[in-house]
Amino acid sequence: MLESSTTVNIAFKPAIDPPPFRSRFVVDDSKAYLDGNSLGRLPKRTKDLLQQVIAQQWGEDLISGWNAHWLSMPRRVGNKIGQLIGAHAGETIVSDSTSVNLFKLASALLQQSGDRVKIITDRANFPSDLYVLAGCGESGSRELEFELMDLETCGFEAMSRCVCEAIDDATALVSLSHVHYKSGFAYDIESITRAAHQRGARVLWDLSHSVGVLPMQLSAWNVDAVVGCTYKYLNGGPGAPAFLYLRSDLHALLNNPIRGWFGAKNPFSFSMDYTPSPEIERFLVGTPPILSLAAIEPGVDLVLEAGIEHLRERSIQLSSEFIALVSDRLLALGFSIQSPLDAAMRGSHVSLGHPHAWQITQDLIQRFSVIPDFRAPGTIRFGFAPIYTTRDELHRAIQAMEASIQSQSYLNFPADIRGVT
Ligand SMILES: Cc1ncc(COP(=O)(O)O)c(C=O)c1O
Repeated sequence: MLESSTTVNIAFKPAIDPPPFRSRFVVDDSKAYLDGNSLGRLPKRTKDLLQQVIAQQWGEDLISGWNAHWLSMPRRVGNKIGQLIGAHAGETIVSDSTSVNLFKLASALLQQSGDRVKIITDRANFPSDLYVLAGCGESGSRELEFELMDLETCGFEAMSRCVCEAIDDATALVSLSHVHYKSGFAYDIESITRAAHQRGARVLWDLSHSVGVLPMQLSAWNVDAVVGCTYKYLNGGPGAPAFLYLRSDLHALLNNPIRGWFGAKNPFSFSMDYTPSPEIERFLVGTPPILSLAAIEPGVDLVLEAGIEHLRERSIQLSSEFIALVSDRLLALGFSIQSPLDAAMRGSHVSLGHPHAWQITQDLIQRFSVIPDFRAPGTIRFGFAPIYTTRDELHRAIQAMEASIQSQSYLNFPADIRGVT
C-alpha cells in the first residue's frame, strides 16, 4: 500500500478522448461515472432490443418464441463471451448467478477429486465466493481444509508465486478471483493453472472483475473452469445472468449438483429419469430469464467490436494516469493507494484508502456528481471501463477529492455506513 511518505513516478501515455464507443451508450455527461466495475452503463442498442423482444417475441410470438429465439440463447451469448476469454465454441454458457455457478462447478470438481482435501483460496476473496466454497466444504462426503492466501503476508509481487507454492498433492481445488474485487490485483492465471495441474489439482477462476477488460486465453492455458458476471464490464444490466466455462474434455466427467430439467439431455421429453446433457448445457438448471439474457448480448457485442486488446491498452492508460495524479496530489491529503502500481498486475479499477473513505464517497457522489463506490471498512474504488470512461471523468474525480478534503465538506455526511454504493 502506498502512503503519503512515499513518492512514486508512474509513466503513462494519455488516453485519447472521447473513446469511440462512448456514443453507443446512454451517457449523462453531468456525472463522472467511475463505477462500471460494479454496474456497467446501458448500451443504446439494449434499450431498443428489449423493446423489440418484449413487443414482438413475447407479445406476438408467445410460446413459439422458445423454438424461434430463446432456447439457443444461453449458448449463443455464452459463445460470444467465450470469444472474449479465449474459449472454444461450446465451452461457455450463460446461466444463473456467479455464486450459483461457482457452487455448481466447485461441487462438481470436488466430487471428482478423490481423497484430496485442500481448497486454496484468498482470505480476502469476494465474500460470496468464500461462503459458497465453505458450503461446498461442509456438504461433501469428506472434510475439507482451506488454505487462505494472504496479501498482507505475500505482497502483490509474490502473491501468484505464493499460491503456486501452496499447491501440493493434497490440493483438490484452487479457486480465486482473477482480479480481486477490492485491490484490483490480477492473479497470473496461466502460471497458477500450470502449477495446479502439475500437482493434479483443478482450478476454478472467478472472472467477474476481468471479463471485458483483460485479454485471456483460457483454452491455450488449459484452464479447467471459470465463472463470471455480466453486469460489470460487459454492461449486461442489473442482476443480469452470469456465465460459466468448462473445458470440453470435462463436460462428460463432471456432474451438476443441481439437477434441473434444462441440464437434461432432452428437457422436453419430460422423462422421469435424469440423463444429463453431454454438452455444456448440463450445467444449466431451470428456465433461462430471457429478458435479462437478451439484455446481455448488445454489451458483449460492443466489447467484441471494440477489441479486447485495445480496451486493455486504454484501461492501462486511464488507471496509470489516475495513479500518477493521486500520487502527485492526494497522498499528501491522507489517501493511500491500495492497488498494484505495476499495470501488469492490475485489473481495471484502482482503490484508494482514507480514514474518512465513507464520508468522502458520499461527498463525491452528492456534491460533485462523481460516482465511485465504497467498500468497507475504508476503500474507495474507481472503475475505468475503457469502452466509455473518459480522462475528463478521472480528472473530475481527482479534483473532487482534493476539494472535499481541502474544504472538509465530507464532514457534512454522517460517518455511519448505510445502503449500497
Ligand atoms: C468477484 C465477484 N464474485 C461474485 C460476485 C457475486 O455475483 P452474483 O451476485 O452474480 O452471484 C460478485 C459480485 O459483485 C463479485 O464481484
